[in-house]
Amino acid sequence: MKRITTRITPEQLAEQRTWCDRIMERNAAQPRPQLAFVDTYGCQQNEADSERLRGYLAQMGYGFTQEEAAADVIVINTCAIREHAEQRVLGNVGALVHTKRDNPNQVICLCGCMAQEPHVAEKIKRSYRQVDLVFGPHALWRFPELLCRCLTGRERIFDLEDEPGSIAEGIPVVRQNQVKAWVSIMYGCNNFCSYCIVPYVRGRERSREPQAVLDEIRGLVQAGYRDITLLGQNVNSYGKDLEKPMTFAALLTAASEIPGDFLLRFMTSHPKDASPALFEVMANSPKVAPCLHLPFQSGNDRVLQAMNRGYTRGGYLEKIAALRAAIPDIVLTSDVIVGFPGETEKEFEDTLRLVEEVGFDALFTFLYSPRVGTPAARLPDPVGKAEKSAWFQRLVDLQNRISQEKHQAYVGKTLRCLVDGVGETPGSLTARTAGNRLVHLEGPEDWIGTFAQVTIQNASTWALFGAAGEREKGGIHG
Ligand code: 5AD
Ligand code: SF4
Repeated sequence: MKRITTRITPEQLAEQRTWCDRIMERNAAQPRPQLAFVDTYGCQQNEADSERLRGYLAQMGYGFTQEEAAADVIVINTCAIREHAEQRVLGNVGALVHTKRDNPNQVICLCGCMAQEPHVAEKIKRSYRQVDLVFGPHALWRFPELLCRCLTGRERIFDLEDEPGSIAEGIPVVRQNQVKAWVSIMYGCNNFCSYCIVPYVRGRERSREPQAVLDEIRGLVQAGYRDITLLGQNVNSYGKDLEKPMTFAALLTAASEIPGDFLLRFMTSHPKDASPALFEVMANSPKVAPCLHLPFQSGNDRVLQAMNRGYTRGGYLEKIAALRAAIPDIVLTSDVIVGFPGETEKEFEDTLRLVEEVGFDALFTFLYSPRVGTPAARLPDPVGKAEKSAWFQRLVDLQNRISQEKHQAYVGKTLRCLVDGVGETPGSLTARTAGNRLVHLEGPEDWIGTFAQVTIQNASTWALFGAAGEREKGGIHG
């Protein structure tokens, strides 16, 4: 594959640091400490991007708040994958008229995938005048410069150049969690599934150098992180674009050889590229978590073809069989779209049958949402909303039954779980099985960051309930 990626040079990043310094000086001259609020919508890649935005903001001297009204800078990191996500963002941005009225110096920034859509940027320009700065994922590495220009000039800034994409190493990061970390291994997508906006807003596939990825993982393990998720829109095509090409299976092997007690996860995998070599690494490395998120989207071959997915129902089921042969207790999750344009009830029922046949542990179900500029949005879509919603409910009911059965089978078992946070009620904690199932248990907060043997006592459709027995040493509090 021809390499088209632009590498942001160390000099270019050093220049961004000088923009951070300028803002830092400006902030130091203010009568009170300056605060920023970063609001994130959408996927884990966006969460990872927000950690970089916070890294930059910390370097500019901002503290953080969760209250819009208290913030001097608001950054809204948006998602464009479905209409519903966009409506939520626009509703919340609309409400910021009031905070801005109370604090006219407040700077409101909108970034992420929605910002990269020309029609959205146009709408913000015309109808959401409280927004000062709009920039897409391609410009994230230049956030300090854009924000500084916004603070010092009086003009609104729209930085939305469409480009294949770049890779910037060394942007500062403020992580949100002390136990689990995201590591982006690649950016963008080349697949152009016919319903999906991602390739248009996040550019072409580009991989980070393996050394940079492995160094980041090593640093995280040394800092005490126990659960590391490698991120990419399609991790199975990792490395095809590198000067020295490398497979994702090889990267995962190298990552699993890093010393330390931690679990490796990854998402998202595309079925057409999920290889036997990957399944072998997963089966042979105790550090690679025994779970796979493998979106199938539809169980019908005609629909899969119209979606431009590049595999058939039979091909998908063969991969699942090979995976289960290699790792019998694999935890499987998937994404499904209901109501793709032209999908008939019979075709939808093929999806139901596939769900029944595979028996996923959990499913992320979506009603098709037309995205401006994608080929699917131009297809005739004769089935009405009410009918699609009824199909959707049939799918949800089926999966709930399966999830409940899968969870019930855990009752009585004792599993090694990572305690990863506090629960909703006082004294309660959350943990994850190696397969990433959510477990509620009781215990003190200093268990967070440790592995414990947990006996599962009860189960619901969504979670397991257990009691911790033996606990291993460690944890984030010493
Ligand atoms: N409509 C509905 N769901 C979508 N997804 C992606 N694009 C759309 C769309 N236009 C779903 C897919 C993907 C997940 C992240 O979001 O199932 O795997
Ligand atoms: Fe979208 Fe398909 Fe790329 Fe996933 S693989 S981001 S669904 S185009």
